[in-house]
Amino acid sequence: MGNTCESNQPTSNLISPERSPEELQLNKTIKLAIMASGNGSNFEAVAKAIQEGRLNAEIKVLIYNNPDAKVRSRGENWQVPAVLINHKEFKKRQDFDRAIVKTLKEYSVDWVVMAGWMRVATEVLLQAFPNRVINIHPSLLPSFRGIHAIEKAINAKVKITGCTVHLVSLEVDSGPILIQAAVPILTDDTPETLHARVQIEEHRILPQAIALAALNESGTIKE
Ligand code: GRF
Repeated sequence: MGNTCESNQPTSNLISPERSPEELQLNKTIKLAIMASGNGSNFEAVAKAIQEGRLNAEIKVLIYNNPDAKVRSRGENWQVPAVLINHKEFKKRQDFDRAIVKTLKEYSVDWVVMAGWMRVATEVLLQAFPNRVINIHPSLLPSFRGIHAIEKAINAKVKITGCTVHLVSLEVDSGPILIQAAVPILTDDTPETLHARVQIEEHRILPQAIALAALNESGTIKE
């Protein structure tokens, strides 16, 4: 024995690339839209990062597509204007995205962050905000694209999964990767316990990745 690491709880997780808070400081306040379909913990993580001075940004608008989404009340708590754009009211995905783009322009948004946005982006959105749409996904892409990524990782019996923040392209859960965080899968993990630990990392890397995207674009950081 003599081993003090008997617990199978991980002590720290790997994030790459790892940038210091100083490196991630933006010299200009960027204007964000957050798009979310459900719970909204990632929306809140971005709002907190802004409040705590870790991200020089302003959330101009929260767009949600499900009338009952919990993120709506989170938006109210943070006094962020929330706009419901219900995908069920549109026959074509492009028309849904056209309504979204109209709102994004009305709020003079620079960057669009899909934080638990359960709709697939079309060329309408991506052409309006080229290389400026960001998504967070609960796996180490390119593994486990699409829905149920947490369950897929458990079923595949991989030992490490995690989360990825990336720029959005037309193909689902593809596009250039900004930051990834690794999360070990424990023997007794359920989808709920694993997702909870993945979300801790999501909340950590999403604000960092937004800053990194802006710094990459301005040429301040070169990977
Ligand atoms: C996150 O796990 C994200 O990776 C996925 O949807 C979930 C949204 O969580 N795309 P929340 O609504 O931000 O709590």
